[in-house]
Amino acid sequence: MRVAIIGTGYVGLTTGVCLGFLGHSVSCLDTDESKVKALRAGRIPIFEPNLEELLEEATPNLNFTGNYAEAIPGAEVVFIAVGTPPTPSGAPNLEYLSQAARCVGQHMNSEFTVVVNKSTVPIGSGNWVESLLRDAGEHRTDGSTPDFAVASNPEFLREGTALHDSLYPDRIVIGADEPRALEVLYTLYRPILDQTFTAPTYLPRPETAMAVPLLSTDLASAELIKYAANAFLALKISFINEIGLLAERVGANIAEVGRGIGLDSRIGPRFLSAGIGWGGSCFGKDTAALIATAGEYGLHLPIVEAARKVNTRQRDRVVEKLLQELKILKGRTIGLLGLAFKPNTDDLREAPAIEIAQKLIDRGVRVKAHDPIAQDRFDREHGAMGVHLCNSACEVAEGCDALVLVTEWNDYRDLEWELVAKKMRNPFVLDGRHALDREKLTRAGLRYMTIS
Ligand code: UDX
Repeated sequence: MRVAIIGTGYVGLTTGVCLGFLGHSVSCLDTDESKVKALRAGRIPIFEPNLEELLEEATPNLNFTGNYAEAIPGAEVVFIAVGTPPTPSGAPNLEYLSQAARCVGQHMNSEFTVVVNKSTVPIGSGNWVESLLRDAGEHRTDGSTPDFAVASNPEFLREGTALHDSLYPDRIVIGADEPRALEVLYTLYRPILDQTFTAPTYLPRPETAMAVPLLSTDLASAELIKYAANAFLALKISFINEIGLLAERVGANIAEVGRGIGLDSRIGPRFLSAGIGWGGSCFGKDTAALIATAGEYGLHLPIVEAARKVNTRQRDRVVEKLLQELKILKGRTIGLLGLAFKPNTDDLREAPAIEIAQKLIDRGVRVKAHDPIAQDRFDREHGAMGVHLCNSACEVAEGCDALVLVTEWNDYRDLEWELVAKKMRNPFVLDGRHALDREKLTRAGLRYMTIS
């Protein structure tokens, strides 16, 4: 099928590359010329495992452009995957979405086109995009009337495992009020739904993978599913963090408690890792947007609000633990292991490391840090904070009064802890992710503490 994708961020690029790999003919459009140029040359603007390899395989089916007149006419499906960054009120900024919808409306031809909202958009955006497309269609110079339907197809991919999540999803959700749109999207996703494609060697099909369930529903329900899914995952993390606080007081081990409750199939084992809490571009933004939407209807969402509060408190607990250990923070040197909001990405949006570093700097601490991938981005985007970046974890340890594991990169699990202990002024490690081996560190002469 002929597909156009507006926006080459995480969601747009991953979707485009996967659909191209499956044999569809895909035009990826971005208004940022430097991005288009880089992608044409096979250079990927984000760090995402295996994306480069899959892009290379999909190249014969991919076209990168900055021109709507090139991408839109003749496309059977147009995905809008532009950014919807948060505004100070918590409601997302829809400027890019409206701009994209207008341009799509002006360039669609008279063949039936399904325009799909792939960005995380507020509930009701499907109707709004439809009206923008209709308005734009009325001002077409060739006098033709576009035939189109709007659908919502929320994205559930995680950064760091984006391709795996796209090729082997738990489900595909399609919201459309027009049956023709559902038919088109069913055909588009058929290779994934039936799992009939040949898996790339570097992204093998999980042994447990089966036919993927398709949930077809109305527009508003699909839009709400996306927000509710992210809010639920966020509150699962906050729940285990809240129980972690109590576990610490009563002398229970929160990792064991998480395992114990997760074995109940009604609860499930994932998203129950206690620690510093969530970061990233979705959970904070989407829970704020959900609260803002509810507010428009005069509703409060106390559970979602509490999940956000608990998450903020986890960052304060890092400072509390360091105070407990070091008594005085002013004049100390503290090292952060990891800057990205989670491993296998260079994304720093709402990364806990930034908030923690700032809290420490505000208290007069000299902060050192290392990250295997996100370091250059940190330097570019947050260089002014004054964090001293180091080339290795060992270099961070040099002269430190405490080390905090912020991001559980695999590289940090097997450090030469004896060497780390020797380099530190005060051999203390605060494990913010329950990722390190307590016994190993203790044997190496380090005092070890977790956040919980
Ligand atoms: C999330 C959703 O998982 C995905 O479905 C949606 O499309 C986008 O938002 P992402 O932000 O890429 O994906 O990362 P995710 O793996 O969900 O982790 C989010 C944050 O939660 C990270 O900071 C991670 O460290 C933290 N986390 C995750 C925990 O603190 N504990 C856990 O048990 C799991």
